[in-house]
Amino acid sequence: EKGTYPFYMLKEIDEQPAVMRTLLQKYLDDAGKPKIETDLLKALNQADRLYILAAGTSYNAGLVAKSIFEKLANIPTEVQLASEFGYNTPLLSKKPFFLFLSQSGETADSRQVLVKVNQWGYPSLTITNSEGSTLSREATYTMLLDAGPEIAVASTKAYTAQIALQTILAKALGDVRQQTTATDFDVKGQLSIVANEMQSLVDEKELINSLAKNYLATTRNAFYIGRGYDFAVSLEAALKLKEISYVQAEGFAGAELKHGTISLIEDGTPVMAIITDKRVASHTRGNIQEVKARGAHVLTIAMDSVAQPEDNITFSDVDPMLTPLLTVVPAQLLAYYTSLNRGYDVDKPRNLAKAVTVE
Ligand code: F6R
Repeated sequence: EKGTYPFYMLKEIDEQPAVMRTLLQKYLDDAGKPKIETDLLKALNQADRLYILAAGTSYNAGLVAKSIFEKLANIPTEVQLASEFGYNTPLLSKKPFFLFLSQSGETADSRQVLVKVNQWGYPSLTITNSEGSTLSREATYTMLLDAGPEIAVASTKAYTAQIALQTILAKALGDVRQQTTATDFDVKGQLSIVANEMQSLVDEKELINSLAKNYLATTRNAFYIGRGYDFAVSLEAALKLKEISYVQAEGFAGAELKHGTISLIEDGTPVMAIITDKRVASHTRGNIQEVKARGAHVLTIAMDSVAQPEDNITFSDVDPMLTPLLTVVPAQLLAYYTSLNRGYDVDKPRNLAKAVTVE
């Protein structure tokens, strides 16, 4: 039930800190060590490459997880759109392991790949929010997100839950592989800090609604830019804005602007910049200057250690790997309020269904 909430999407955005805590409870022991099925860890440890298959928002969560698996577990990881992979299958490694990400567990594009994976005889894991779903029944292993039902068509808490659970899994695999990046990583402590910081961000609704009114009320197009993790989140942030507020939005790697996209910047074009990585913060600031000089209306989301006084939304420092769990929250809220203020049915955007069961 959505209770006092006008739309499920807002409720589900608000639930994210609790979803993080539920995952910590379920998948970590008291000492903060991951509790993962032994056979699953064994199968993962034998793999020479991880293939993450998904669609839409789940694909975007996979883009973030790729870097986390490579960093913590030192396993080469590819992320592929399930719809493309099935019919344009890349050359596979000798010992592939397939990871299916799906909130509903019913996405036909992902299922057709899993059917092939099973024919080939390779091991697979489905990470899903839906117990007993098709993808979970047909994969070798399943891990549940336990995020509670996600009713709004626009996925929010499933995205953050997928990233958090994959972080725990990557930490577990990295521990087995004796990677110091994993053994030194306090996943419980870091995700707890993230849950608290997430709460501060969902509490910024008034600020974010006023920014949505100021930047996105009437525009027909908008851009998100960022580098690294911030680029991956830019793709998800743009998808959220497109699907519920019908603003034509694109996420770009900051440096790519000058390779073409900057020609789209006009007087008043909204550009939302996400800045968390200190190695490239000054470059992204440079990109901001470039679009500002062409008239862009720039909104910034920045982590404290790289923030400047003029930034619109800021949050306390967390492990760089976990910044997507935070930067996506204001983007979800910006999309929510833009849709709300334009008078749309936020939970049921036109032309879309919650689970896409056709290829
Ligand atoms: C976007 C959205 C979709 C889904 C996609 C995959 O907000 O909800 O892009 O992420 O259809 O769905 P699942 O995760 O159920 O496989």
